[in-house]
Amino acid sequence: MAKRNIVITGGAGFIGSHVVRLMVNKYPDYNIINLDKLTYAGNLANLKDVESKPNYKFVKMDICDFEAFYQLMQDEKVDGIIHLAAESHVDRSIKDPFTFARTNVMGTLSLLQAAKLYWESLPEKYEGKRFYHISTDEVYGALQMNHPEGIEPPFKTVASSEGHKAYGDEFFYETTKYNPHSPYSAAKASSDHFVRAYHDTYGMPTIVTNCSNNYGPYQFPEKLIPLFINNIRHRKPLPVYGKGENVRDWLYVEDHARAIDLIFHEGKTAETYNIGGFNEWKNIDLIKVMIKTVDRILGNPEGHSLDLITYVTDRLGHDARYAIDSTKLQKELGWEPSLQFEEGIEKTVRWYLENQEWMDNITSGEYEKYYDSMYNNR
Ligand code: NAD
Ligand code: DAU
Repeated sequence: MAKRNIVITGGAGFIGSHVVRLMVNKYPDYNIINLDKLTYAGNLANLKDVESKPNYKFVKMDICDFEAFYQLMQDEKVDGIIHLAAESHVDRSIKDPFTFARTNVMGTLSLLQAAKLYWESLPEKYEGKRFYHISTDEVYGALQMNHPEGIEPPFKTVASSEGHKAYGDEFFYETTKYNPHSPYSAAKASSDHFVRAYHDTYGMPTIVTNCSNNYGPYQFPEKLIPLFINNIRHRKPLPVYGKGENVRDWLYVEDHARAIDLIFHEGKTAETYNIGGFNEWKNIDLIKVMIKTVDRILGNPEGHSLDLITYVTDRLGHDARYAIDSTKLQKELGWEPSLQFEEGIEKTVRWYLENQEWMDNITSGEYEKYYDSMYNNR
């Protein structure tokens, strides 16, 4: 394997930390640079097990800092960028859309332009280079719930359990027209367009992937799954938006990281790949699975925590249903999710229950103080 100098942006976040871990362990000859601003969502404790490896380096940087990133490209002779850094939480985007436009749109543009200037200055130009942007299924908008009770899916159910249902007969394909609804997805859609524009205009070798909801260890506990596991444990209310009928399509985060590694190395330039596990769940059904699992592991009687379910005002513009069709990725590159959902949720619940200190550091704000003191003067 040839030596490569790869920047992974957002590597201290949820998905980014899994991608960094996978690549640091799998490619000892690569130079893996984790570039992260360490916002509230960035946490270097997610990477304790790889931080002392010789092929790993952390750089605290804002992706909007064009000059600093251009310098880094030159200093590190960067030939690959896997771009995950973003503001990622829909509820925050409804309250503060400007931050989302700044980071997700302007930050992505800043990386693209710095990469363009550096790569075009080299004798080989774009040869052997790659700019890979990690995006979301939310850019496609929302699908109808035209089968509210669910139907047997007309496709291969790779990761889902026996008898698993689909809640509509439409899916998101790579060709589905963009129709984002939230400020978060509007900003991600815009950044996807910029990435494709850099291919079409300048010939930059880009790739975009759009993935469904991820779950697993190290997810910031503002998101449904870690928030609810923690609340069940502490007997706090579980705020279910609306009627809990919205459908999300869940993929175990390590399966996403494996897909990213595969696509970075073997994906076709200028292509888009959808990533998902054909694993649709109504929020309320998923919440009941979490309650059952946490109660069983903690030794509570079945149904003990059901009384925590609290229906609250719905999220503004709450998308009804997401469902990704990842057939292209499966057929063209041979990727498949490895985990059945039951297995994935069991692993995830156990991880959060066994890593209470990780959770407490975040919820108490201790991690921010710790990393400020560690990285302020770098
Ligand atoms: P996250 O919020 O857990 O992590 C985001 C990371 O980006 C953090 O480490 C943060 O410090 C860093 N960051 C934010 N602003 C930055 C800036 N200006 N400069 C440098 N670093 C900055 O997010 P996540 O859930 O891991 O998502 C990662 C990427 O994957 C995002 O682009 C997101 O849109 C996409 N995605 C997420 C999901 C999901 O279910 N979580 C699904 C599909 C796609
Ligand atoms: O689909 C991919 C997207 O999945 C990613 O692009 C986003 O970065 C990621 O945050 C996620 O977005 P969602 O909005 O789907 O995830 P979240 O965990 O915030 O919510 C999942 C569902 O649960 C959604 O329908 C809203 C609902 N919900 C969420 C929270 C936090 C609740 O009912 N109560 C809650 O407290």
